[in-house]
Amino acid sequence: MGLADLSEEEILALLDASAEMKKHLASKKPLKDLAGRTVCLLFFEPSTRTMNSFAAAARALSAGLITFVAGGATSTVKGESLFDTAANLAAIGAEAFVIRHGSSGAPARLARALAQSGRPASVINAGDGWHEHPTQALLDMFTLREHFGRLEGLEVGILGDIRHSRVARSNAFGMTTCGVNVTFVGPPSWMPEGIERMAQRRQAKGRLSVSYNLDELLPRLDAIMPLRIQKERLGAEPGPRAEHYAAEFGLTEDRMSRAKPTCVVLHPGPVNRGVELASAIADSERSLILQQAANGVPVRMAVLARCLVATDGGKN
Ligand code: CP
Repeated sequence: MGLADLSEEEILALLDASAEMKKHLASKKPLKDLAGRTVCLLFFEPSTRTMNSFAAAARALSAGLITFVAGGATSTVKGESLFDTAANLAAIGAEAFVIRHGSSGAPARLARALAQSGRPASVINAGDGWHEHPTQALLDMFTLREHFGRLEGLEVGILGDIRHSRVARSNAFGMTTCGVNVTFVGPPSWMPEGIERMAQRRQAKGRLSVSYNLDELLPRLDAIMPLRIQKERLGAEPGPRAEHYAAEFGLTEDRMSRAKPTCVVLHPGPVNRGVELASAIADSERSLILQQAANGVPVRMAVLARCLVATDGGKN
């Protein structure tokens, strides 16, 4: 359900499989890996990149697709539970669920409930609360490895609203497992509680560190990933105002002029231009943002193939 659970070998195998999928996509040869299988996208929070790249990935593998976006025209507005929704979609034909949910742990709870009810299904985490967004971190790592030719020894800064970010968590787990040195940088009020103790305790190939000073850290980085201020998860918490945040931590052209010439910029999206990231940087040659979005398709193809072929049960 997350990258905290995967070994370096498992992560690298998924990245290698993603590279193969990318070659297949470029060759335009149809892939039949999931012909006759049905994937269900089960989205309880908004998404542009994740939902559509999972859909493109399923189609590229010849899978059938059921798309469920909660709210509006669905029976969630009549109070139908997550489990009942999934169980009914499974009865209609869904064999694997790609789920995004606002509650941390929802994918794991759904997988357990389906198994206990005698209808086991693959459940893939497409972002759960503040917990993890594993396929985002995989595509971030894939994009970095594609650009630099390696992961081990890279210095990556993850900047901003770390506290509410499932992307920051998954990247910290996945990247440090694979030998990347990750530094969380941002205002103290947006660091998770106990982060410095967690950083000291984390035993991985790469180091996890914390910094509160972007200007000091930036010249050492190979890549920087500013995060969106996740207003929907702030609630009543005090946090820096957007304009104060932008002045101290916004990735401006002036700041980037002091980074290494080879330092690249990633962003999981959506970008708040002019807040965490200047438009000119988002659109510059340093920006890998659209490569990240494009790489979401082969990475999610590799994840779908791994999850569904593993639970094939002799169907293909
Ligand atoms: N990075 C990401 O999860 O984007 P979406 O919310 O558009 O899926």
